[in-house]
Amino acid sequence: MVNRAGLMGDMANIYLNPSVLNTNWDELPQIISQIKADSDFVHLDVMDNKFVPNQTFTFERAKEIISKSTLPVDAHLMIIDPDEMAPKYAKAGAASVTVHLEAVKDFARTINEIRINGAKVGVALKPKTQLVDVIPYLPDLDLLLIMTVEPGFGGQSFMEDQVAKIRAARFEIEKLNLQILLQVDGGITKETIKIAKDAGANCFVAGNAVFKSENPNETLQQLRAIASI
Ligand code: DX5
Ligand code: ZN
Repeated sequence: MVNRAGLMGDMANIYLNPSVLNTNWDELPQIISQIKADSDFVHLDVMDNKFVPNQTFTFERAKEIISKSTLPVDAHLMIIDPDEMAPKYAKAGAASVTVHLEAVKDFARTINEIRINGAKVGVALKPKTQLVDVIPYLPDLDLLLIMTVEPGFGGQSFMEDQVAKIRAARFEIEKLNLQILLQVDGGITKETIKIAKDAGANCFVAGNAVFKSENPNETLQQLRAIASI
């Protein structure tokens, strides 16, 4: 298992977290090894066909992926029972566990249980969820994920109407002097990564832009260069 210590310590950096949603899951250890040099985390989309209209990994399968991954795993839980499941992902070795604000019931208890099991705590907002709903919890987070598509599928278009939310989130994070990652997920390409970065994001999930390109490593290098300007 990868060492989870020290992650997210350097806020001057930008983070690139490729999403393996639209790849061949039978080859995940190899795919992860291939992108390792150009990635910070691997983003794992867990869907239960209830919170979103799509299904991906069971917990058992995710556990196996986490144990074999040579990159730290950024687990994005799009499930209806994060209070029960998120601590299990932390215990299984995920570096960060992100739960949807719309699905969490006991926020304080769940984030505490993620943390005591050794993972960083993330909270995600669907496009229609207002930023104001998460502001009281910001000081307790390591990562705030602003979805830039409706969760459920890779390959959708970046929702420009979320840019104002990214900008407002950056403003609140600075105002409170917090060291949390501001992650964007959905439709990130060589064009949209710049828009998200300029609005204040510093952690970028990209699926199709990376894995449907001819050379995923080269694409990751280009994305990093664009987001670093
Ligand atoms: C969508 C997932 C995303 C998805 C991103 O619900 O959370 O992580 O894989 O894929 P692209 O970059 O293709 O939009
Ligand atoms: Zn995701």
